[in-house]
Order: sequence, then structure tokens, then C-alpha cells
Amino acid sequence: MKPPAPIGVYVHWPYCARICPYCDFNIYKNKAIDAARWIDVLTRDLEYWAARTPDRRLTSLYFGGGTPSLAPLSVINAVIRACERLWGFAPDPEITIETNPTDAEQSHFEALANAGVNRLSLGVQSLRDDALTFLGRNHDAASAKRAIRTAQRTFSRTTFDLIYARPGQTLDAWREELREALDFGAGHLSLYQLTIEPGTAFAKAVSAGRWTPADEDQCADQFDLAQEMTAAAGLPAYEISNHAAPGERSQHNLIYWNYHDYIGVGPGAHGRLTIDRRRLATEAAKAPADYLAGGADGYTIEALDEAAQLVERLTMGLRLTDGVTLYADDYFYADEARTERLNALITDGLVTLDCGRLRATANGRRVLNAVLYELLR
Ligand SMILES: C[S@@+](CC[C@H](N)C(=O)[O-])C[C@H]1O[C@@H](n2cnc3c(N)ncnc32)[C@H](O)[C@@H]1O
Repeated sequence: MKPPAPIGVYVHWPYCARICPYCDFNIYKNKAIDAARWIDVLTRDLEYWAARTPDRRLTSLYFGGGTPSLAPLSVINAVIRACERLWGFAPDPEITIETNPTDAEQSHFEALANAGVNRLSLGVQSLRDDALTFLGRNHDAASAKRAIRTAQRTFSRTTFDLIYARPGQTLDAWREELREALDFGAGHLSLYQLTIEPGTAFAKAVSAGRWTPADEDQCADQFDLAQEMTAAAGLPAYEISNHAAPGERSQHNLIYWNYHDYIGVGPGAHGRLTIDRRRLATEAAKAPADYLAGGADGYTIEALDEAAQLVERLTMGLRLTDGVTLYADDYFYADEARTERLNALITDGLVTLDCGRLRATANGRRVLNAVLYELLR
């Protein structure tokens, strides 16, 4: 029998101790908060969505941010208990929390594990002090390394994030840093190229000419090196920026890439849900004060038509090495010109189509935006 389709819950905790100059997520400077109020509103939202998704068991729960390791433990606990009560978890659920190296006391990790968290994602960003200063981080390399070790002592599943393609970072320097990262033996790594997001402090610095971002060649060489080194270490890429040992892929993030259902609660959180054959895009009120005031009434909910769904499905799915399923009756084929452009991409070696599975090749993933443009225009 086919296992039921996965469904996950994403909880956005919007506060950070410091705003990183590269980050354009929905984040706010940390402040004293009323835990009871947050518990009330998050629980009310979870109840709202649970009533609309009966008979489902959660396969994953993800606390992201922001910096959810700053959230009071009572909030984390209450959300996990509410999920248990409202949906129940499928066997072996994945419960992840993003954590900063500054909140990495053993006792805190143990408390999270006791609450039910079974996977820890650390925002390491770099193992080099000068890079951490450049990235505006509030920790040094030594504390990042200590945090990785503490996490690995407490959780059987850990992952950490690194940002590469930094200005002035040489290929040799990236090789050494990644070697060191792989030597920790984590089952999962997220390796992000530094992107300059509009409106961030980095965008202002670049437009003021204070420094120049990495050029295309540096990005491509460092991306290729990451593919080779992670594969050789037994953590091949399964998504553009994500690498995992067998059995260690992020089940929650796979929901996004495979375009399955997920519920998003917390300020600005997005969700995608199929209810009564309609594909719904949901978004919670962005500012924490609005979110707390409005709760479930503050969501915008929009039904996506087939064209919009196709854009999302391919944009997410082609990030995966496993690609995306295209059935013969797929809306994709409704447009003949699109099929012709698909065939041209196959001839150019940028995508493959085997038994209804569309995949970007290694070359195709390097120019994924151009491939998507051809498939979706
Ligand atoms: C929402 S952040 C939260 C992580 C955690 N709060 C922290 O600060 O370490 C998730 C990850 O996205 C990555 N990220 C965010 N903005 C980025 C950018 N402009 N370029 C590259 N990576 C970025 C970082 O690696 C970060 O750890």
C-alpha cells in the first residue's frame, strides 16, 4: 500500500539576537516576549489548520526563523504537544529546530531533546573568524565548533549551514574550510552561496562600492568543488544547496521541494495545502504584533490555478537531484510550444525525462534559472 502523503508544520520564530547583514528573512531584533500569549496564538492557529486537515498524521515539524533557539522552551513544548494532540505524529516524525551557536548549552539541547526535538540545525555559517566577523555573526569559530560537538553528543541527527562564495574567498580556502566541516561527520550539510538580497545591509555596502561580491567563476568553481567533496565524503547533493548521507535527507524540506502539503504558523509563515481539490497558498500576518493580534483571522489564503502551481512545482522540484514527476496528462503538456522547448533542453543535456521523471542534469542545475525560464515562459 502507498504510504500516506507527508504533511508537515512549519513554525516561524521571528526574533534574532542580532540582525545579520545578509539576511532578508522576516526577522526582528530579539525582545522580551509574553510566552503565554505566543502559546495561545500559535495553539489557536494550529487548531484552525488541524480542523481543515482532519485524518492526517504529521510527518515533520520544523521550528525555523529567525532564531527559534531563543524561543522559551515552554513555547517549543506547547507547540509539540499541540501537534500531538491535534494531528498526532506518523511513525518516526522528524522534529527539527534551527539553533544559533550562541545558544548551544548542553542543558538547553537536552531540554529540547526531552521536549521531542530529534534533529538540530546549527547556523554555523563559517568556520573562520574573519569570515564570521564579515558576516556580522555574534559567535566565533571556536564556539561554532563547540556547538557542533555539543549538538552531536545530544542529537542523532544534526546539520549545519555554511555560507560560501564570500568576497575574496579563494578556492583553496573553501576546500580547507569544507574539509574541516566534513570532518565533523554530520549526516547533513546545507551549503549556501552568499547572495546579496535587496534591502539588506550587504546590498547597501555593495551599492556604495565598499566591496564587490564573488564573480560568476568563483561561484561556479566553489559550487563544483562542494559537489565533488561532499559526494566523496558520502554526503552527495540531493538539492542545489543540501547534502546528505543515506537516510539523512531533511524530510521536512523535502515536503517543500516535492510540493506536498505543509502548514505554516508564526509571523509571515507560508503554507501550501490541498483542501477539497484546491491548492491553497496561505500566509500569516508578517509583523509579530499583527500576527499576535490577528491569529487565524490574519491569514491571506489564495487558491492557486494550474499555471501558478506548475511554476511552483517545477521551481521547487528541479532543485532536487531526483527531479519532479510529470504524468502524461500533466498540465505541463497543455502547451505544445512548452513541449518543444523541453525537447530542446533535453537535446542540450540540461534536463532528462525518464519514465515521467523530469530532472535537471548537473549542468542544468548550474543554470537552473535559465532552464526554468525555458520551461515556464
Ligand atoms: C533563516 S536563516 C536562520 C538561521 C539561524 N537563525 C542563524 O542565524 O544561524 C537560515 C539560513 O539561510 C542562510 N542564508 C540566509 N540569508 C542568506 C544569504 N543572503 N546568502 C546565503 N545564505 C543565506 C544562512 O545559512 C542561514 O543559516
